[in-house]
Amino acid sequence: MRILIVFAVLLTLAYSCSEDAPAPAIPSDPDRFVVDGIDTLTGLIAQGDYLLVRGNCLACHSANLITQQGATAAGWREMIHWMQEKQGLTDLGELEEPIVAYLATYYAPVETGRRRPLGEVEWYRLNTDQAD
Ligand code: HEC
Repeated sequence: MRILIVFAVLLTLAYSCSEDAPAPAIPSDPDRFVVDGIDTLTGLIAQGDYLLVRGNCLACHSANLITQQGATAAGWREMIHWMQEKQGLTDLGELEEPIVAYLATYYAPVETGRRRPLGEVEWYRLNTDQAD
């Protein structure tokens, strides 16, 4: 009798394990992790084509490498080509343009270290009459 019960329990367990697991839900709203304009999964600014960056740029390193950078479109393109040449990043094809555009827009060169705009400067005439 005891053996029968053990058998029944095992059978029930086996059956419940073999049931097809429900298919994972396909994310219908990719923006659902956005809080205060930031994609909380990655830290990326959740504007424009950030999902392309999330989908193509985070296989090898975290988004921190990206979010702490600032560069022009040319600078971003250069980094991407460097990773393609040296680090095995695959050709992004037609996605390169929107990815570079996103990066150059939301991760532009940082302004610190540059001189202030000349708006409040008081100009004076340089004395060039020294020969007289
Ligand atoms: C195939 C792997 C791979 C992928 C995919 C990848 N990277 Fe990288 N990336 C690297 C490696 C390796 C480094 C160097 C990491 C280090 O220095 O610790 C790097 C470094 C960087 C850096 C820092 C560069 C610097 O000069 O400090 C940035 C910014 C960057 N990646 C952006 C991107 C962007 C944007 C994408 C998507 C277009 C991307 N990465 C996709 C491998 C990759």
